[in-house]
Amino acid sequence: MKNYKVGVIGATGMVGQRLITLLSEHPWFHIEVLAASGRSAGKTYEEAVCGRWAMEAPIPDSVKEMTVLDAEKDAEGIASLVDFVFCAVNMDKAATKELEEKYAKLECPVMSNNSANRGVSDVPMIIPEINPEHMEVVSAQKARLGTKRGFISVKSNCSIQSYVPALHPLMKFGITKVLACTYQAISGAGKNFDRWPEMVDNLIPYIGGEEEKSENEPLKIWGKLQDGKIVNASAPAITTQCLRVPVSDGHTAAVFVSFENKPSEEEIKELWKEYKGEPQLLGLPSAPEHFLTYFEEPDRPQAKLDRNLEKGMGVSIGRLRPDSQYDYKFVSLSHNTLRGAAGGNVLMAELYAAKGYFD
Ligand SMILES: NC(=O)c1ccc[n+]([C@@H]2O[C@H](COP(=O)([O-])OP(=O)(O)OC[C@H]3O[C@@H](n4cnc5c(N)ncnc54)[C@H](OP(=O)(O)O)[C@@H]3O)[C@@H](O)[C@H]2O)c1
Repeated sequence: MKNYKVGVIGATGMVGQRLITLLSEHPWFHIEVLAASGRSAGKTYEEAVCGRWAMEAPIPDSVKEMTVLDAEKDAEGIASLVDFVFCAVNMDKAATKELEEKYAKLECPVMSNNSANRGVSDVPMIIPEINPEHMEVVSAQKARLGTKRGFISVKSNCSIQSYVPALHPLMKFGITKVLACTYQAISGAGKNFDRWPEMVDNLIPYIGGEEEKSENEPLKIWGKLQDGKIVNASAPAITTQCLRVPVSDGHTAAVFVSFENKPSEEEIKELWKEYKGEPQLLGLPSAPEHFLTYFEEPDRPQAKLDRNLEKGMGVSIGRLRPDSQYDYKFVSLSHNTLRGAAGGNVLMAELYAAKGYFD
């Protein structure tokens, strides 16, 4: 069995808490270090998250008494103690980029939830079931950074994980255009209803920067490796609207899609049912048995009923039907802090571990 020492940077935040909950029972990864900002440094983990622990499960006993370190000031010490780090910090883009590069240059691989490095062409942005071949660009990144084992890999934005997984098996029909409206949970903003009471009985039609990410990131996911870079795909054309809705967890997308070669509804459903990626083939610990599940019931998927499908790692789809303007429309849902953040991040790390990148 594989066994790696890991650090969690941003351990006190919403994604950090999820990472800790998942990692505390992980068969391969053992939490060695917790780090956050100078505000939390020096406190025990229990003190640092006092009043803001937002998970249903209690704080794992194994981390309660660990002293939180300063992610910036203690970077060298942290990097020397672990095989790699998970990173989920709420800092500005330039500072996040600098922090992640610092760890990579300290020869400590970084499994990132943050957006700062997503646009860098030699930083792989991985949805493990979709584009594992992009991991190979790491050798070009290491050459740029001058490292032997240090590198950065990112997961994509949580919003696109509600609809890109459903579209991916259909790419062979030549998807020409996509329109997606996303209905995004408040945990995506690091909040719950106690900390964001204005969201009860409300909808906010704006999430800063989200539409740009939702339209651009799929093109990197579907891009090709070329001369040490990932070159973005030029199609499909994608347009989105991203709304914040009063749901605790689970991003839903209403999707419209057109094809060069229009498949039948049966073909689409069959492809969704059969789809397997490397995580399923390798039997990775966090891999859902079924990446995609189609519901025939007309009122599914529902955030409250279906977000925890396959421990929050499965994507649920429903309401596939013809459309008058596009070929088809459907609805899909994924858990934003599990599949869309911490769970997807852990699965990505499992894939790197399985392929020997941390050895
Ligand atoms: N929430 C989601 O669904 C979701 C999904 C995908 C991606 N993400 C991304 O994941 C990242 C974290 O999001 P979140 O929702 O977990 O945010 P959050 O709840 O606000 O937590 C932010 C974390 O960053 C730490 N931090 C802030 N300034 C820091 C600094 N100068 N040095 C080191 N650590 C610092 C905080 O530590 P203190 O407690 O000490 O302040 C805290 O641990 C963001 O980049 C976000 O875009 C979030």
